[in-house]
Order: sequence, then structure tokens, then C-alpha cells
Amino acid sequence: MIKFLNEGIAKKYKGKTCVLRIDLNVDPKTDEGLFRLHSVLPTIALLRKYHVRVVIVSHKGRPTHSAADKKLSLKPFVSIIEKEIEESVAFIRTFNFEEIRETIGSAKQDVFLLENIRFCAGEERNDKKLGKLLAGLGDFYVNDAFAVSHREHASVCAITDFIPSFGGLQLEKEIKNLKGVMTRPESPLVVVLGGAKTNDKLPLIEQFWKKADMFLLGGGPSNTLLAAQGIPMGDSLYDAKLVTKVRKYAFAANVFTPSDTASRGTKILDIGPETAKEYAEIIKTAKTIIWNGPMGLFEKKPFEKGTAALWKAILANKKAVTVVGGGETIASSCLVMNRCKVPANVFLSTGGGAMLEYLSDKKLPGIIALR
Ligand code: 3PG
Repeated sequence: MIKFLNEGIAKKYKGKTCVLRIDLNVDPKTDEGLFRLHSVLPTIALLRKYHVRVVIVSHKGRPTHSAADKKLSLKPFVSIIEKEIEESVAFIRTFNFEEIRETIGSAKQDVFLLENIRFCAGEERNDKKLGKLLAGLGDFYVNDAFAVSHREHASVCAITDFIPSFGGLQLEKEIKNLKGVMTRPESPLVVVLGGAKTNDKLPLIEQFWKKADMFLLGGGPSNTLLAAQGIPMGDSLYDAKLVTKVRKYAFAANVFTPSDTASRGTKILDIGPETAKEYAEIIKTAKTIIWNGPMGLFEKKPFEKGTAALWKAILANKKAVTVVGGGETIASSCLVMNRCKVPANVFLSTGGGAMLEYLSDKKLPGIIALR
């Protein structure tokens, strides 16, 4: 059983120090970046309510241990976090753990942000020594980084061997909402898949094949199925290696591919208006909706229309239990709404790959580690 952080636990650790894993693997200037940060603010607030000192650990990008890594520093997040929590944050750039402990012990601040933990070689190896050193920075550990919980890394897994470990408030919400649509989806269940990559969406089709009533496809997944139907894909993005594998889905009556598309030359860049209408009608009837991956290149007009139409349909359906995830899908929500106004029946997941893996029924190492 996972123990999640709550008032009682925060109270028990009053005045102590928490090593808090969050996911800042985002551009701090973007909406999506702020979304991931905003999602963990309640956890930080609960810890600070009980005067718990907080050592924030996160990764960013995939460092190559070269000069290019400078761009992956977490320093730019300091002022952003300070503004959000209205408290001064001390940035720790060294990985000399003795020095870190001294800094934490003597600093006037109560909130610390460690430099990108992937700068430490042991992080991605789930190195026990690194886990122990990180654990040595606090009295307990909280994982509120659902988005990286599919990685078996030291600050996600190994650390839990050394200090009492809990799931954060956002992690708890993620598990509750995703488990809900997996185990008790009310029919009709509609699964909407888009985005660039097909191979990370395919396990979801397989997992929900018997449970879902309809699959609505856009982007790379629909192009790959259209290719399997024998339609020439021109310059469009599709996964040629998966064409044979997806053939069994390509002609199924409950799998919808676009009947019209918006293209530039021979490149499909969005679903067309007829398809958007057809998908919106289906969404209207859904009681459960899972969505990952935009319908098109929503960042470039006029190819935002399909994705915007889907958002509108999803927001209009107030009776469906809806989960939406994936960095780009969440970023595309700005086409139609201010994220503070998300309806109560819609859960926005902070996970990209983690959401897909969780819904594909894979065991996430970061969640297993908390058990
Ligand atoms: C994400 O953004 O999906 C997570 O932070 C994981 O990042 P990774 O794919 O580089 O491990």
C-alpha cells in the first residue's frame, strides 16, 4: 500500500526536512511548464504549513555531460518557484553532498532547489549510493513527480530504500483518476489518440481494445492506420515500421480515422472539418473519455482547428469522466480555455509517457518503490 502525504503525516514531520521529487522537465516560459509546477504547489503548501523544510529535486532534459548541458540548469526555476510560494528559495548547484548538507543546515531559507539531478551520473542508473546521499538530505521523502515515475532512477526509486517515503498530493490524484478510467469506465468509453508518435500510443489501443467503445484517431496514429488501409501518406508523419502491426485495427468498425484532412502539399497536418464534426458528435455521447495527443499541428494556424474542436466537445460534455494527458495535449488546452477553469469532470494529467504506460497497465517503478 502506498502511503500518501496528508495533514497527519505533515504534522508528524513538523519542523523536519522533506526531500521532494517533482518534475520540472519543461520550458519554464511555457504554459505547460507552469502547469506541472502548479500541480505540486498544494504539496509544498501542506509541507510548509507544518514548517517542514523542503529540498526540491528534479531533472530536466537528457543531459549528455557536455557543455550543452548548461541549458538544462534548473536555476531559471528559482524565481518562478519563489513567486509561486511567496518564499525565498536557495539554489544548490553543487553535488558535493557534504557541502549540500552544510548549506541546508546553515541557510536562512527553508526551501531549496537542487541543480538538475540528471547531471549526477548515478541518477539514471538508479544508483543506490546516490539514493542514499539524497536520502541523507532529509528525514522523509515525497514523490510528487508522476510524470517521471516510469523511470527507474535514483531520485525516484533508490532513495525510497533509505527514508520513509510517501506519494504527494498530485501523485495521489493521478493514480485515483487514471485507475478510475481503467478499472470502472462507464460505457460508452471513447479513447482519443493523436500526436506525433504512434509506437507509444499502440499499447493503449491494445490495452483498451476490449474495453473501449470507440477510438478516434488523429496525427501519427491515424496516418499509420491510413497507410495500413493502403492510402498513400505522401510527406505525412507516420510509422512505416508499424503498418503491418496496426492492420488489424485499420479496418475495425470502432476505430475512426479521418474522413477528411487539412494538409500542406502532401503532408497531412490536421483532421478536416467533417472529421472534427464527426468526432465531436461521438464525444457528445461518451460517458468516459481518455485523450492523449493533439489532432494536428495545433501550434501553426490553420492546423489548430481539429484539436480546438475536440477540446470544445470535451468541455461541453459535463457528464463524462474525462482524463487528458501528454505535454502537447495539455499545452493545446490554451486554444480554448484558461486552465484554472477546468471543469470538475475533466482531469488533466501531468504525465506524458508515464500516463501512457500507466494506462497500458505497465508497472511504474516510481510507484512500485513507494509500496
Ligand atoms: C517527461 O517529461 O515525460 C518526464 O519528465 C520524463 O522525461 P524523460 O522521458 O526524459 O525520462
